[in-house]
Amino acid sequence: MSETTQAQTPESESPETEATWPPLDYRSPEQEQAASGATVPDAQELALEDINPLNAHLFSENRWQGHFARLRKEDPVHFNEIPAAGRYWSITKYDDVRAVDGDWKTFSSAGGITLGPPVSALPAGGLGPVSSFISMAPPRHGEQRSTVRSVAAPKNLRNVEPLIRERTIAVLEGLPEGETFDWVDTVSIELTTMMLATLFDFPFEDRRKLTRWSDIVFAIPEPGGLIETMEQKREELTECVRYFERLWELRREQPGDDLVSMLVHGEATKDMPTAAHLGNLLLLIVGGNDTTRNTMSGSVYGLNQFPDQYDKLIANPELVPSMVPEIIRWQTPLPYMRRTANHDCEIGGKQILANDQILMWYLSANRDEDVFDDAENIDIERHNADRHLSFGYGIHYCMGSRLAELQLRVLWEEILPRFERITVEDEPSRTFSSFVKGYTSLPVNVTRK
Ligand code: HEM
Repeated sequence: MSETTQAQTPESESPETEATWPPLDYRSPEQEQAASGATVPDAQELALEDINPLNAHLFSENRWQGHFARLRKEDPVHFNEIPAAGRYWSITKYDDVRAVDGDWKTFSSAGGITLGPPVSALPAGGLGPVSSFISMAPPRHGEQRSTVRSVAAPKNLRNVEPLIRERTIAVLEGLPEGETFDWVDTVSIELTTMMLATLFDFPFEDRRKLTRWSDIVFAIPEPGGLIETMEQKREELTECVRYFERLWELRREQPGDDLVSMLVHGEATKDMPTAAHLGNLLLLIVGGNDTTRNTMSGSVYGLNQFPDQYDKLIANPELVPSMVPEIIRWQTPLPYMRRTANHDCEIGGKQILANDQILMWYLSANRDEDVFDDAENIDIERHNADRHLSFGYGIHYCMGSRLAELQLRVLWEEILPRFERITVEDEPSRTFSSFVKGYTSLPVNVTRK
C-alpha cells in the first residue's frame, strides 16, 4: 500500500512538486500516539473513551487483542479525537467494516488511506496533483487500476508460477542447517523482493533498494529507528524518485510487459506528469512487499504458535490451499484502511459528520467471533477462512491478492517436502506501526528431511 495521498506522502516529497506539505516538523497522528503511548495500559484498565487502538506500541508489543475485543463488545463504532487527526472513528465489527468499505460514495479514500491530519487542516488545493489509484474515486480509480490489472491476471499468474517456484526452491535449498537464522531477512524479504523486481523488471542487483523504499514509506521517524528524521525519509525517497525517473525514460523507449512500462504507456496513465506516476509505483512497491513478506513470516510464526495445526499440515500437505487464506486472516498484514465521510451519515447508530475519518479495522473484523469461531486461533481447515477482510472489500479490493496467495502456496508446497520442521527459536520482533502488522526479525532453526 501507499500512503500516497496522505499528508506524509512520499511523492509530495518529490523534487518536481516542491511540496511544502508536510512540513519537516510535521508529526503524524501515529507519531503523536506513539510518542505518548509507550505505557498504554491493558484494555480492561482503561475507561472506554480512553481506548485508542492507533498506537504503534500495542502492535510492536503484540497487545492489541484486548483493546479490539473490548471495542467489538462494548463500542463497535468508537470515537476518538486527537490534535493531529481531529475526529475519527474506529470500526471494529465485521459487518460494519464491510458496509463502509463497500460504500465508496459515502466513504472515500481520496483524503488518504492512513489516519491523517483533520481535512480542514490540509493546505488549500488539498494534497496536490500526486496520488495513487488506491486514493481515488471512480471513474479515475478504475481507469488507472485497469492499466496495471493484467499483472495479477490468471494468465500471468500461470506464467509466473514456475519462476516463483524456482526461486523459492533456490532460497530454501540455501538455508543453513543446525544454526539459528532470521527467517524475515533470509526468506520472506528475499522472496518478495525478487518478485517485486520481476514485476517492475527492476535491475536485479539493486533489488534491495525496493525493500528499503518500501520499508521507509511507513516508518515512523524515531531515534534509533529505521529512519530517524522526516528529513532522512524525504532524502531517501527522493533517491527513489530519481531512480524510477531513469527507469521510465528507458521504458518509454523500450517497453516491456513490466509494471513501469504498463504505467508509462497505459492509455489512462501515459499523459500523467512524471511525479504522478510515482504514487502508483509506490503503491505497487509497498502493496506487493510488506504485506506478502509479513504473511510469509506470519505463516511460520503462526504454525509454531499452534503446533497441532502444523502437525496436521505436515501429515496432510493437501491442506496448503486452505491454510493460506486462514494465515492471511490470522496475520492481517494491514490492520486498517482509512476512509473519509463525504457527508453526514450514520454507522451503527452513531452520528458521523462530513470529513470525519473512519478507520476500518480489518484486523478486528477478522477476529469477530460472530463470523469466525475461536477467531484468535489458527484452524487450517476453517470453513469460512476465505471470508476474511485482509484484502479489503469493494472497489479497492486488493489487486495482488491472487499473486500473494500463489507465493504463499508455493512457499509451503516447497517447505513441506524439504524440512521436518521450521522451529521458531525465540519471539519475533515486530514492526513499530499500527498500519503495517509484521515482523522485523524471526529467529528460526530448520531440520531437513
Ligand atoms: C497478503 C498480501 C496482501 C494483502 C493482505 C493486501 C491487502 C490490501 C488491502 C487491505 C488493500 C485495500 C483494500 C480496500 O481498501 O478495500 C489492498 C489494495 C491494493 N493492493 Fe494489496 N495486499 C496484498 C498483496 C498485494 C500484492 C502482492 C500487490 C501487487 C502486486 C498488491 C497491490 C495492491 C494494489 C495495487 C491495491 C490498490 C487497489 C485499488 O485501489 O483498486 N497487494 N491490498
